[in-house]
Amino acid sequence: MKGIILAGGLGTRLHPLTLSTNKHLLMVHDQRMIHFPLSTLLSSGINEILIISSVSDLPEFRLLLGDGSAFGARFTYAEQRVPNGIAQALLIGEAFIGEDSVCLILGDNLIDVPEINTAMRSHAYLEGAVIFAKPVKDPERFGVVELNHAGKPISLDEKPIKPRSAYAVPGLYLYDATAVRRAKALRPSLRGEYEITDLNRSYLEDGSLRVVCLPDTTFWMDMGTHESLQAAADYVRSAQASSGRKIGCIQQAAVDGGLTVKQPSR
Ligand code: G1P
Repeated sequence: MKGIILAGGLGTRLHPLTLSTNKHLLMVHDQRMIHFPLSTLLSSGINEILIISSVSDLPEFRLLLGDGSAFGARFTYAEQRVPNGIAQALLIGEAFIGEDSVCLILGDNLIDVPEINTAMRSHAYLEGAVIFAKPVKDPERFGVVELNHAGKPISLDEKPIKPRSAYAVPGLYLYDATAVRRAKALRPSLRGEYEITDLNRSYLEDGSLRVVCLPDTTFWMDMGTHESLQAAADYVRSAQASSGRKIGCIQQAAVDGGLTVKQPSR
């Protein structure tokens, strides 16, 4: 399975912080925001990773992360000319994905959830799509999935005014190689974006969407607002202090993922 991190967008909810800095390069306690989704991929053993951002911000990502060889990985970079939707990442990544399955993760999602690593490993060669679901108090801020009594998905809505369930869909999606063809068939939503929820609905409609429910105790946060950015930093600080475990450390994540990490030269 390959990995794509989408680190574009304007970050308008984080103005003025993001007027001169890409959101995904902001500090979150002792790491940059992008280190968290990158750690999620590396710790699952994914080592071919495409990072997508605006042409003006890509040089900074290259400087920060390099080519990945230090972590037993290969990082490549691609430009998103106009930020008009998450599903666009599949089109930008078409050649990179080829015939493989892919994990798309949003660059502002902090997912400190062992169950996700397990699912990512077990679905390395998947057919269809796997998304995750976590009950939240404010589902209207997210993609929302409704499940039947057997835990099967029955509807998906993007930021609904009246959510049909409390299950938000985190920004981490596992797709088979048909995702590119499906993304090409999407039409822009009313807000003018190629919605990831529409792509997921295409899998739902042909019965090939699976949903993994995350336990209430797991930590997932979209760091797109001042409040959530601060809450994420607080979480990282306190979880590290109480467990002694580094969160968002890409060297450690690569070791956890079984990748061949180079020792820094003296
Ligand atoms: C995006 C997706 C939404 C998902 C969320 C997770 O929202 O559109 O479905 O639940 O990421 O972070 P946005 O980043 O546009 O608020």
